[in-house]
Amino acid sequence: TAVLGVALAVSGCGAIGGSVTPVREVEFDSELAIPPLAESSVVDGVRTFDLTARSGTREFLPGVETPTWGFDGPYLGPTLRAERGERVAVRVTNELDEATSVHWHGMHLPAAMDGGPHQPVAPGGTWEPTWRIDQPAATLWYHPHPHGATEEHVYRGLAGLFLLDDDASRAAELPSEYGVDDVPVVVQDKAFDDDGRLELRHDGAEPGMLGDTVMTNGTVGAYHEVTTERVRLRLLNGSTARTYAFGFADRSFDLVATDGGLLDAPVRLDEVRLAPGERAEVVVALEPGEVTRLRSAEPDLGGVAVPSTMGGNDAFDVLELRAADRLTPSPVPAWGRSSHADDDELRAEDAAVSRSFELAGRQINGERMDMGRVDEVVTAGDTEVWEVRNANPVPHSFHVHDVQFRVLTVDGREPPPQLTGPKDTVYLEPRRTYRLLMRFEDYTDAEMPYMYHCHMLLHEDEGMMGQFLVVEPGETASDHVEH
Ligand code: C2O
Ligand code: CU
Repeated sequence: TAVLGVALAVSGCGAIGGSVTPVREVEFDSELAIPPLAESSVVDGVRTFDLTARSGTREFLPGVETPTWGFDGPYLGPTLRAERGERVAVRVTNELDEATSVHWHGMHLPAAMDGGPHQPVAPGGTWEPTWRIDQPAATLWYHPHPHGATEEHVYRGLAGLFLLDDDASRAAELPSEYGVDDVPVVVQDKAFDDDGRLELRHDGAEPGMLGDTVMTNGTVGAYHEVTTERVRLRLLNGSTARTYAFGFADRSFDLVATDGGLLDAPVRLDEVRLAPGERAEVVVALEPGEVTRLRSAEPDLGGVAVPSTMGGNDAFDVLELRAADRLTPSPVPAWGRSSHADDDELRAEDAAVSRSFELAGRQINGERMDMGRVDEVVTAGDTEVWEVRNANPVPHSFHVHDVQFRVLTVDGREPPPQLTGPKDTVYLEPRRTYRLLMRFEDYTDAEMPYMYHCHMLLHEDEGMMGQFLVVEPGETASDHVEH
C-alpha cells in the first residue's frame, strides 16, 4: 500500500499493476518465423533497399486473423544488412492511411536521415534517406517514430532488424549462418480483444500496457530446430513497455554483444535484462537431442519496492530450442581483439562537458517534448558525460540517438557485466543515477535535432523526450529549428 501510494502520486491516475493478466501459457509447437533478409541492389556504389509500410492480417492465434501493420509484409519487416564503410539508401514508401516514419535505432548518421519525428512520411508518400555505415558491426533495428504515436505504430507491427557487419565480426568465432545458427529473436508482448484485434490499453498502468501474449518474430509459442552445437540469438526487446530477464532454467550462456556491438570479450551469464529498445547477442550451447527454452525470469527491477507487475515480471517461457540428434561443431565464441580497437576509444578523462538529465513524472528536466524547442546543443567532437537520474519509483529505458555510449557508473558503482559493452539504450532502475560517456562526431546540423527519450513507448509519446543539436565548434543553434 505504501508502494501503491507512491506510484499513484507519480502517475496521478489509474491502476498500478492490478489490471495486468499473467502471460498465458502456450504450446511451443509453431516453427519460429525468421524475418527474410531484405533484397538490395548496389546502384552507383550505394546499397539500396526498398521498404514499404502497409497494413495486413496475421494469424497469431489459431484460427484468428488479426489486423496488423508491417514492412513489405503483414507483420514486422525484413532484416536489412550492410557492411561497415558501405553507403546505403532506403526507399521508404508509406501505404498506410496515416503518416509514419522510419528511425534507424542505434545508427550513427546525419540528423536529417534519422527518421525521427521531424522526418514524417505522409500517407502515399516516400522518403529516401542515404548515409554511410560508419560504426562497428552490431544488431540495430528500425521502427517508426511519429510524434506522439510511436507506441501504436510499433505495437501494430512496424519494426525490423538492421544488421551491420565488419571485418572484426566476420573474423570472430561466432555462429553466423542467418536463420540457422545466427537467429533473430524479436520479443514482443500483445493483448487481443474479443474480435482478435490487437488491443492497446491505456488504463494508467505503469510503465505502460503489458500484454498477456508473448511472441518471437510474430510467432506465439515458437520453437527453433538447432543443428549446430552453439546457436547465437540476436535478442531485441521490441515491446512497448515490458522488461524481460532472458535466460535458461538449465544453463548459462555467453553474452557476446550489446546494443552497439561486440563486448571486449564474451561474458558468461545466467540472465540478461532487456528493457524496451535494448538488444543483446547471446551464444548458447546444446547437446544432441536436447530441448531447452529461452525464458524470461522475474527480472530484478533494481532492488526497490515496486509492484511486481510493473516491469512485467512474471516468469514465462519465450522460445523453445530443439537440438537435432547430430550437431555440426561450432566454435567457442572468441575474438582476438576488441571490436573497437580501431575506433577512437571513449575515455572518461577526455570528457569536457557534462550534462544532467532528471526523469520525473513524464518529463525530462521539468519539460515535456516540444518539437520546436532545442534542449541541448552539443559541439561535434566533444566527449561528454550525461548524468541521467531516474527520480521516479517506476523504471525507464533511456535512449540517445546517433551514438553508442559507455555506462561509467550506476549510483557511483561499476556497472554490471551486461552494461560494459557499447549501448544506445539503458534500463534505468527506479531512483538511480547512471553516468553515460559518449561523443558526437561528424554530422553537424544547426537546425535539425536528434532525440533522447524514454523507450517505454507510452512514456515517449506522452512527452518524456528531448532534442539536441550537434553543431560545429564555435557554431550556435539556428533560431529556425524545423518543426
Ligand atoms: Cu528506438 Cu528514438 O528510438
Ligand atoms: Cu519511461
